[in-house]
Amino acid sequence: MTTAWEEFYAKTPKPSNLDENEKLLNQFIAFHAKENKKVVLVTSGGTTVPLEHNTVRFVDNFSAGSRGSISAENFLQRDYAVIFMYRIKSLEPFSRHFVGSRLLDMLELTTTNDTPSVSVTPQYVNKISDILKKYKDSLNQNMLLSISFTTLSEYLWLLRSACQALTVLENRAMLYLAAAVSDFYIPSNEMASFLPLLLATHKIPSDEPPSVHLQLVPKVLEPLVKLWVPKAFVISFKLETDESILISKARGALRKYSHSLVIANMLQNRREQVVIVSKDNQETLSLTSKQLQNGEEIEKYIVDYVVEKHKDWIDTKL
Ligand code: PMT
Repeated sequence: MTTAWEEFYAKTPKPSNLDENEKLLNQFIAFHAKENKKVVLVTSGGTTVPLEHNTVRFVDNFSAGSRGSISAENFLQRDYAVIFMYRIKSLEPFSRHFVGSRLLDMLELTTTNDTPSVSVTPQYVNKISDILKKYKDSLNQNMLLSISFTTLSEYLWLLRSACQALTVLENRAMLYLAAAVSDFYIPSNEMASFLPLLLATHKIPSDEPPSVHLQLVPKVLEPLVKLWVPKAFVISFKLETDESILISKARGALRKYSHSLVIANMLQNRREQVVIVSKDNQETLSLTSKQLQNGEEIEKYIVDYVVEKHKDWIDTKL
């Protein structure tokens, strides 16, 4: 009998750039396999679900990409090679420090004899050079591979390919699934080419709203843990708005998928507190208001914690 996730892949066309991304993934992983490095796949940002083939309208899942991009920087700091799988236009490691007008605010413009020149405002030189150095080092040492997605189907195809490529690393691979993935979608064969066209062909008056039928997305954590990367250290995230069900949902996911850890966070205070749940333990990590004021980021503590757990776990396999 075909499972829901097998049916999803059978019915959903693969993205046109998947082969190219698989090549990049295989090269990156082969390089680090030779070096005996640990590699983490960080997923980040939210997926979109198009409502029509010629997409003007879509349903989006909320995530700025802060958790993923900050964590990626911290994994590099801990000497992990990082595959950063992110939603286009969400935050990326290093460049996240310069979004909006932040970069422009760090620059100065001077004009001498009608010749303009641009320089970094002295107070920002240390900050920029520090980030720039880390960014350049990560690329020059081939420690960071960034690959992007936009839609749910691109995400799910890319995730499966990345997992399959990671299998060669066995327990040196870590998956850190921070992306916000849609629970609903419209199958490709049920999607209209363009919604207004659908209204016109069905002679629906233009002042009547179209009805859209969404289907459940199969949970891919199940095949991921059991079949795609059975030897990897897998961490999923649980996002809730109701605190009373957060930990029970996280425990439920661990029971169902038997992976390593669930990082449970509340939408409202996700920047200052998370609970890391394992089969027989749970640990709350939180930042004080002073730490927040000083610009500390909780991802440093999350990454320190999961890196230690990964190390302990590898030791148990020796
Ligand atoms: O980017 P920020 O703004 O900083 O926000 C970070 C975050 C709040 C998005 C992040 O910390 C977070 O909680 N991400 C997971 C949110 C989520 O989508 O949870 P979920 O309940 O839908 O999924 C739980 C797990 O199941 C996820 O790890 C996901 O990879 C997995 N999943 C989801 C859908 C699906 N079809 N198959 C899956 O396996």
